[in-house]
Amino acid sequence: MFGLSLIILAGLCNVLVNANNVKRQSSCPVNVADSERRDCFKWVNASPSKCEERGCVWCEASSTNYPFCFYNDKTCPSSIADNAKVDCHPEPNGNKASCNAKGCVWCESATQGVPWCFIDQEVSQGGARCPVDIKESERIDCHPDAGANEANCIARGCYWCQSSTPNVPWCFAPKSLGYTMNGAPISTAKGYRVNLKRRQYPSWFGLEIDDVNLDVEFQTESRLRLKFTDATASRFEVPSNIPSPPSAAPNTLYDVQFNDTPAFNVKVTRKSTGVTIFDSSIGGLKLSDQFMSIGTYLPCQSLYGFGEHEHPSFKHDMNWKTYGMYARDQAPAGSNNLYGVHPFYTCVESDYNANAVLFLNANAQDVTLMPDPALYYKTIGGILDIYIFLGPTLENTVQQYTEAVGRPVMPPYWSLGFQLSRWGYNSIANMQTVINRMRQYNIPHDVQYGDIDYMDRRLDFTYDRVNYAGLPQYVTQLKQEGTKFIIILDPGISTGEPAGTYQPYELGNTMGVWIKDTDNTTDILGEVWPDDPVVFPDFTKQVTEDWWIQLCVDFKNVIDYDGLWIDMNEVANFQHGSFNGCPDSPMNNPPYLPRVSDNLYQKTLCPSHNSYLGSQYNVHSLYGWSQVPPTHKAAITATGQRSLVLTRSSFPGAGSQAVHWLGDNHSLWTNLHYSIIGMMEFNLFGFPYVGADICGFNGDTTASMCQRWMQLGAFYTFSRNHNARDRMDQDPGYFGAEVARVSRESLEIRYTLLPYLYTLFHRANLLGSTVIRPLVHEYTSDSNTHNIDRQFLWGPAFMITPVLDEGATSVTAYFPDSRWYDYYTGAEVSSEHRKGYTTLNAPMDYIPLHIRGGYILPTQEPANSTTFSRNNDLGLIVALDDFEEATGDFFWDDGDAIDTYSNLEYIEVSYSAIPGILTGVVVFNGYPSAGLLVYNNTIRILGLNYVDILDVRVNNQPHSLFSFNPTTKVLEISMANLFLNDDFQITWTPI
Ligand SMILES: *[C@@H]1O[C@H](CO)[C@@H](O)[C@H](O)[C@H]1NC(C)=O
Ligand SMILES: *[C@@H]1O[C@H](CO)[C@@H](O)[C@H](O)[C@H]1NC(C)=O
Repeated sequence: MFGLSLIILAGLCNVLVNANNVKRQSSCPVNVADSERRDCFKWVNASPSKCEERGCVWCEASSTNYPFCFYNDKTCPSSIADNAKVDCHPEPNGNKASCNAKGCVWCESATQGVPWCFIDQEVSQGGARCPVDIKESERIDCHPDAGANEANCIARGCYWCQSSTPNVPWCFAPKSLGYTMNGAPISTAKGYRVNLKRRQYPSWFGLEIDDVNLDVEFQTESRLRLKFTDATASRFEVPSNIPSPPSAAPNTLYDVQFNDTPAFNVKVTRKSTGVTIFDSSIGGLKLSDQFMSIGTYLPCQSLYGFGEHEHPSFKHDMNWKTYGMYARDQAPAGSNNLYGVHPFYTCVESDYNANAVLFLNANAQDVTLMPDPALYYKTIGGILDIYIFLGPTLENTVQQYTEAVGRPVMPPYWSLGFQLSRWGYNSIANMQTVINRMRQYNIPHDVQYGDIDYMDRRLDFTYDRVNYAGLPQYVTQLKQEGTKFIIILDPGISTGEPAGTYQPYELGNTMGVWIKDTDNTTDILGEVWPDDPVVFPDFTKQVTEDWWIQLCVDFKNVIDYDGLWIDMNEVANFQHGSFNGCPDSPMNNPPYLPRVSDNLYQKTLCPSHNSYLGSQYNVHSLYGWSQVPPTHKAAITATGQRSLVLTRSSFPGAGSQAVHWLGDNHSLWTNLHYSIIGMMEFNLFGFPYVGADICGFNGDTTASMCQRWMQLGAFYTFSRNHNARDRMDQDPGYFGAEVARVSRESLEIRYTLLPYLYTLFHRANLLGSTVIRPLVHEYTSDSNTHNIDRQFLWGPAFMITPVLDEGATSVTAYFPDSRWYDYYTGAEVSSEHRKGYTTLNAPMDYIPLHIRGGYILPTQEPANSTTFSRNNDLGLIVALDDFEEATGDFFWDDGDAIDTYSNLEYIEVSYSAIPGILTGVVVFNGYPSAGLLVYNNTIRILGLNYVDILDVRVNNQPHSLFSFNPTTKVLEISMANLFLNDDFQITWTPI
């Protein structure tokens, strides 16, 4: 009876309210001054009926400066029942002004305990009000989990407003939701501390954190840290190498402001332009045990990054795309979360300055890109730890990022050569057949891989003595012939071998290196490639490093490998969680599951399992990252050289010791394009050495696809053809003479340019520059370049325009505002194409390549491997700019030794050209063997707009061995007979 009467009462109430509103539309409320009106209809074409639909008052004002349609504040919105009013002003001394300043509604009540200032959720379906001060494009999703409806939305203290625009959230947060400052910001040695108190909104996902500290660290001139932590309890933090200097940087490119309206927010601005880089006033600051989030408006006209995913374009689509991040053994497809986690983006501001942001967090997380532009970042654990990099150029942001997380590793010279692999040669005979094909066609071949089929029953640190009988001897032979060998190692160690026969397991048992169950005692068993259940080494433990290094070093005595390939380290497990699944708990099934595939334990361990560093819930995505340092140490210790560690799973900082490939891609034409995007992204993440499996891993390729892919892959920084088990052969010799010829010729161009590429890697290692460089990094103020991801550069000066589509024999190229020269002929691209698109001919055996004016590239005669090409004659490509000038440099060392730069065991030569003169200056000479190298290969000077050349002098001596092509305007000088370790000057005189 009582319930029924309540409903009737509510119904009556609505009628009364409506009647009241109707009445008010005919006579304006005298108690609301024009200047007090809160606009209820911010769109064009307001009308009395549309206003009435929104439950607001329509009344013409004294001037069009004031809204005609406005909220009827003075009568108080009454569709919110007293017991549903959420207090917006828990602190004392509220009044209408302080309430409205929070974006909330002030409405006095005679009833005890009913808040007078409450959240403006005067919203509902069917003609009620939605906040007009929140645009659809800036809605912070208040119900990112499934199953949003009006009731559960309102219950979270949020607005429910439908939208006809696809993907716009219907349930969204008031901007006043969040925290409020508890006292003024406190100045600290490193910057500021702000104490925050949670505003009393309903909880979304339980266990809200009421007291939060925001520590602001002015770390460097260009790097700022915003760290939000629980003020009363410690929580998991990613162990980070990012230096936190003891005192604030004195001069900074940024300013920071704190505001408390409509809720606490922080704004970071660029001092030089006033542009706001980061601005959390959009709302969404939330810290609870298993849900932490923050939103920011973005100044970006172009945004890049976030990984690891297969993105359809390099420049992000901001139209409500959500990307989950959580390490997963997952072949690239759609927007799935893949092997690594990289919560890092770069952003081009409207005046072409650039900034970048890292959210340093390892828990399962996602980010929603919003059209405002804005983004909403969410994670389910750890802390909110935000690093902001001020650039001001895109290259600067990457340099500053790798300065923080670690500079990219310097790869050995041989690893810049072409590499061949497949899963499932299944025998040494098949491997030899393929390698012999490479030699038959004289295709360069620097590295051969052994995938898991080289092992005895896929047991780490063994080899198959039946099918791969003689492998150790064969590896030794390959190495004598100039081809290195890399072996794969998986983390899972088999438990099923007879006692006393399998040292990796027994030693690991003795040393106690395995990941444990929740009791911290029981080893967790899973299933990977070996026949029997496996245990998983816990690389967050020091003793595990010792165990791993010992095994790797010992195995070097069995197979004389040169590098290590660590796969399946997400960590992958074919059981979901364990053989017994995962207990149902908030950790294993969290209240909010970020936008990741399946759940947190499919194909991996249970979040509740324990590593030394913490629960898998917190450290899961750090598995590959934690395996990298021990493997890097092991590889260096075992080989005594620089070596190479190739990892599938990665996290910020792993690029300082390991390199990456883009995982189990597909033999599909689309994958050629995606590989360029993936490489560009990993160059932002501090992994300049990266590539995709050439000709595709999963599925069967075709001869024409593989031919085009070999052309493209010849310009991956990591150039490897790799294939899945049971798929047709796809090594470049397999398809016969024509594919072999095209592959060889593309690779010979690569090898010719390796001195330039190697120098770029030195720059990456020293300064953090990109190597695979997106055009937007060099031509940021040319917005045409912002979405170019079908062409790419090596460093600043070499442009690759591959054919990516089946059957195409031409390709569209964009030529940014420079002089560009055809790599093959040296002829200049017609100036009519400058800063424009043009169609280039690209028959099946041709990949368009161009050199940028203003740069000098060192070259070397190619060979069948770097072992031989390293000793060949040097040359130069001198591409002149509009002023007939160019510069370049060359870094060279023995290619193998560790830390040659810091040990001063290198030579560096600096080149420059001005009209008529080319000079080479040895700026550092610490590598005596450089004296064995001679510039006797061609020195090509491009872009000399002369009729002819009269004479050429080398170090002031007349030199007759030159030719000038009056059509292409290329001067070629041969047999200059100059030594790498000598300064030189070459001059030419036009007729
Ligand atoms: C296991 O270790 C973690 C710390 O790594 C600790 O928090 C937890 O209480 C331990 N569990 C048991 C059952 O001892
Ligand atoms: C590679 O070429 C060199 C000469 O440059 C030759 O001596 C060597 O035998 C070749 N190696 C192979 C494996 O073909």
